[in-house]
Amino acid sequence: MFDDITIYRNRSYKWFKIDGYNMKKKILLTRTIQDFALKRLRHRYQIEIHSGKIPIPKKVLQSKIRDADGLICFPYDKITREVIDCAKKLKIISTFSVGFDHIDIQYAREKNIRIGYTPNVLTDATADLTFALLLDVSKRVSEGDRIIRDGRWTRVYGSTEQLGVDLQDKTVGILGLGRIGSMLAKRARAFDMKVIYHNTRRLSESKERSLHAKYVSFERLVKDSDFLSIHVPHTRQTNQLVDKKVFAMMKRTAYLINTARGKIVNEDDLVQALKKKMIAGAGLDVFEEEPVNKTSLLTRLENVVLAPHIGSATNETRAKMAELVIKNLNLGIQGRRPVSSVW
Ligand code: 8YV
Repeated sequence: MFDDITIYRNRSYKWFKIDGYNMKKKILLTRTIQDFALKRLRHRYQIEIHSGKIPIPKKVLQSKIRDADGLICFPYDKITREVIDCAKKLKIISTFSVGFDHIDIQYAREKNIRIGYTPNVLTDATADLTFALLLDVSKRVSEGDRIIRDGRWTRVYGSTEQLGVDLQDKTVGILGLGRIGSMLAKRARAFDMKVIYHNTRRLSESKERSLHAKYVSFERLVKDSDFLSIHVPHTRQTNQLVDKKVFAMMKRTAYLINTARGKIVNEDDLVQALKKKMIAGAGLDVFEEEPVNKTSLLTRLENVVLAPHIGSATNETRAKMAELVIKNLNLGIQGRRPVSSVW
């Protein structure tokens, strides 16, 4: 049901005429966003917000998208060819994310549906969360939290118990030194860590120098990192890139950090690697299937820190994302290229 079905006359060029009335265009949101953003949307459009199960069930999405002019969606929503085919009027898909692997880009483009996304505004927040996971897993903060909450802190630790590792002089290996990877490099340097990276295309010397980052092959990255942090998008090439072969090459003392996309890692292989102590631990904000089930094997392991996909989840960043999502949407609705567009 659309939550604003008022029909206005002659008030805005953004509306279109049906049977003599000026009717606001329809925007579907697969879940709610910030109040200020909803207010702005309501001013211009009829909006419908899916408020039930997250992610929006496929059938519901397919039926609700039918008469929508614009869509605001999230990484959980699979905007497949099948879904796009149901949309009869759609002009813009404005995703509340920097990642867009949940959208069939090529098909949307064929159908002339613009795609907006939210790069840049979440770079710092995501780099912060990456570093938070790195600190947490290496200093065993969450593990200690569980010990206290479970009433297992019956004595002060001895000098050899609950030990973490120092960060100084350790090597952070960044897979994908782009926007977020670069900000992680800065944070790592502030902690006197060394930075190595691997990209499909090597950065310029001046960029490398400014980030104090050394380019290495994928194999060297995997072998030399004390913390291997993933910052590449999820594509056909990166799907399950980090698997048992990679874990076998990593140092037994190394940690895997993933704030990019869960499907880049083979999660079964990761569980085995953590269980068998092939690596020291992992800090994860993203998973093969989200939300993660309580019964997931990952939840039973002590040497892993789990976060519920909160890389961009700060007040400031989410507000900026909402602003950009609306800007992108408004332009797409007018048939124009979004400020931040996939195409
Ligand atoms: C989500 C993300 O968008 O930007 C991305 O690609 O994965 C996140 O920032 C955010 O969690 C909203 O679901």
